Amino acid sequence: MCGIVGYVGSREVVPVLIHGLMRLEYRGYDSAGIAIIDETGNLIIEKAVGKIKDLTEHLWGKNIKGHIGIGHTRWATHGPPTVENAHPHKSRDNSIALVHNGIVENYVQLKEDLISKGYKFSSQTDTEVIAHLIEEEWDENLLKTVLKVAKKLKGAYAVGIISTKEPDKIVALRKGSPLVIGIGEGENFIASDIPAVLEYTNKFITLNDDEIAVITKDSVDIYNIDGEKLEREPFTVNWDISVAEKEGYKHFMLKEIHQQPKSLTDTISGFLSNLDNPVFDNLNKFNKLYIIACGTSFHAGLVGKFWIEKFLKIPVIVDYASEFRYRESPIDEKTLILAISQSGETADTRFAAIDSQKKGAKVLSIVNVVGSSLSRESDYVLYTYCGPEIGVAATKTYTAQLITLFLFAVYGGLKRGFISQREFEDFRHHLSILPKAIEETLKWEDKIKDIAYKYQNVKDFLFLGRGLNYPTALEGALKLKEISYIHAEGYPAGEMKHGPIALIDENMPVVCIAPEDEIFEKMLSNIQEVKARKGIVITVTDSDNSELEKLSDEIVKVEKVSSQLSPIVNILPLQLLSYYIATFLGKDVDQPRNLAKTVTVE
Ligand code: F6R
Repeated sequence: MCGIVGYVGSREVVPVLIHGLMRLEYRGYDSAGIAIIDETGNLIIEKAVGKIKDLTEHLWGKNIKGHIGIGHTRWATHGPPTVENAHPHKSRDNSIALVHNGIVENYVQLKEDLISKGYKFSSQTDTEVIAHLIEEEWDENLLKTVLKVAKKLKGAYAVGIISTKEPDKIVALRKGSPLVIGIGEGENFIASDIPAVLEYTNKFITLNDDEIAVITKDSVDIYNIDGEKLEREPFTVNWDISVAEKEGYKHFMLKEIHQQPKSLTDTISGFLSNLDNPVFDNLNKFNKLYIIACGTSFHAGLVGKFWIEKFLKIPVIVDYASEFRYRESPIDEKTLILAISQSGETADTRFAAIDSQKKGAKVLSIVNVVGSSLSRESDYVLYTYCGPEIGVAATKTYTAQLITLFLFAVYGGLKRGFISQREFEDFRHHLSILPKAIEETLKWEDKIKDIAYKYQNVKDFLFLGRGLNYPTALEGALKLKEISYIHAEGYPAGEMKHGPIALIDENMPVVCIAPEDEIFEKMLSNIQEVKARKGIVITVTDSDNSELEKLSDEIVKVEKVSSQLSPIVNILPLQLLSYYIATFLGKDVDQPRNLAKTVTVE
């Protein structure tokens, strides 16, 4: 949802900004731009519609030089992707340029006010008001002025500002949208996300809400909204830059699919080395649990409900965060909200969690990005240990969310006395062999590629599953929709006869997730129903059942794992299927149209 980057130091600034923007492109790719203060102290702004490569082509031959600047890659909210609406935006007197991630909610009122004072607007964005406001409110210096302006802004934002009046500093301000400060030697950075500047530094400071930073090449000073100076120690990130590279894979999505044996191993050991998480000592205080999340994280929550109700014996309601927030659910101090979010920045999820806290509930979050807003706002946090996920379609973080939910349920069950130590050890054993099962399942890649090739031109897909694997069907359909733009629906297989079966004919591929579990026979009957209507059956199973083989037009055999863990293995062929269909169709797999990785607007 827009990425921002900034640099001050002795390097040539343009390549630093462009590299940073390329690493942030997953956050939005409608248009991009940079602003720098050149060697003669002038403000230069360059923008282009499209991706960072379009901006790079636009910059070709311009030979812009300078050592301080800011950059932006946009996911359009207010106004279509045009050069006028692209960031950076500037003040009327050409002294100030800024980049913004988020939404200024009271921009209409601020804009009308500024227009009445003679300001002219060249874009339809909410952002431009900030640039004019800084000019209008100018008071001695940039910091003092930004402190004044920040008090007038409503909404969520991360902003980076440069000014020709103080050409040696970047002022950054944050409320609700992510922003980190990278600390170098004789150079400093701002960025929406760590990988943007990881090739230059591994030391970072997270700017908190309602904080303002003044950054020069040799100093970083942080202030609260009242202008009081704050102390903040940097933290060190021990990732190397390869986390932000494709490492030989054609796309980040494919790399991330293949990283799952490792991300699961890391997430399991991360969980098991943090068993002293205080949430486990407090579980008896709660009599109900709401899981709130969006998109893929919501699907993980649907699986989590099965495990939590089974092992932890607490009733669970799973809801889209955007729906939950505007319903009057009975929330009190006996309610535990389990908020699941890869980014930890999704506005719908964060605000639903914060609202619930105000009603007395406690919030436990499952988050991948350490230090993200949701992780800091929660009462308890469980991390997935996946490293950065750059492909817009979530893959490795989904399976890591699943494993964390499973561990939460079984360890919580142990703590509450519903599971014996022996049963817990048994589950640990099943978990220890899971990464190998994932590796073996990924060996079906070539077969899945063939299936993808065969069905790439189909207009609609149906995904069916039951029980624990009904959410797998939903997630398989979501993956296909978002990266190949093929219409797909996920459905509980037993529900099909109540309506959707009417869709099935000889042109409809039906992906059937059929693990050999206690409802296998029922699933087999549902597959018979599909076949009887001439549907094309593509089966994902761990079974050697000969009837199933006869019914299947295509079959992918996943490794056998404990049936409780089957959703973690069964999703892999579906991730690969959507990946290969999308690549055969020539779609932009890592940056599908209209989407952004981190959705910081409601
Ligand atoms: C789908 C996808 C999205 C996200 C959703 C929530 O592949 O990535 O549906 O799952 O936007 O994002 P987080 O988990 O960051 O809250």
